[in-house]
Amino acid sequence: MEVVICPDAGGVGEVSAATIAQIVTRVGPQVVIGAATGSSPLATYSELADRVRAGTLDLSQASVFALDEYVGLPVGHPESYHDCIRRTVTEPLGLDPARVHVPDGNPDGLDTAGQRYEDAIRAAGGVDVQIVGIGVNGHIGFNEPTSSLSSRTRVKTLTEQTRRDNARFFDSLDEVPRHCITQGLGTVMDARHVLLVATGEHKADAVAAVVEGPVTAMRPGSVLQMHPHVTVVVDEAAASRLTMADYFRAAYDNRPDWQRNPAAPPSLLTV
Ligand code: GLP
Repeated sequence: MEVVICPDAGGVGEVSAATIAQIVTRVGPQVVIGAATGSSPLATYSELADRVRAGTLDLSQASVFALDEYVGLPVGHPESYHDCIRRTVTEPLGLDPARVHVPDGNPDGLDTAGQRYEDAIRAAGGVDVQIVGIGVNGHIGFNEPTSSLSSRTRVKTLTEQTRRDNARFFDSLDEVPRHCITQGLGTVMDARHVLLVATGEHKADAVAAVVEGPVTAMRPGSVLQMHPHVTVVVDEAAASRLTMADYFRAAYDNRPDWQRNPAAPPSLLTV
């Protein structure tokens, strides 16, 4: 696991976007990107959009698979993840909407929605780089504590903590759905590289638990310790409870040239 500690949220966006651009360079234009919603990756998307506008990054043939979606929000609801991904990812990054996929939260097709999503990811050749944020309870996607560490895309019930955390995007807590459909932890673990972004002091406990704590379904993101290629990009506040922070800083600051090379294989990119 490579942990990069940046001075602030802007730095997190820059390093994350550079990591993704590096993977796009290596994989080629038909790269498959897993996208997270939430506030954490917004700076990353905005940095990527700058590169697309400047003509240094072409994502027009890229495919995107979102992590999750609420169940039951009407099509076009501004807080549906379909709409969030359109606003923050598809349009600014110049993606082909036909290649952008979000789990189907329509209650009518829920029994098959998970398998359909898994099939679509497999048909695209799997995810090259999966971006994830982290909930204060350690969830990734909407895999709440006690999620199976090998789970696949499926319907989940949101915890009250997550509903309260996400209520800021809705007019009231009552409007926050109780159910969601999310890529499973096993689905995320199938991605060839996982990029976790987190900012702010309120994420410090979750980051420390996921990076340095035991692997446990009570902190679902901790399953990433079992993944061979994970980059965790955090600001100083989110890193503030990491006991290995000095080691992570030294490892990143002293990367040799062969590790910085954009064409370097993943085995050379992580500490
Ligand atoms: C939400 C989303 C996650 C997101 C996380 C953190 O509930 N389902 O994909 O990563 O919580 O959100 P934020 O980045 O806004 O703190």
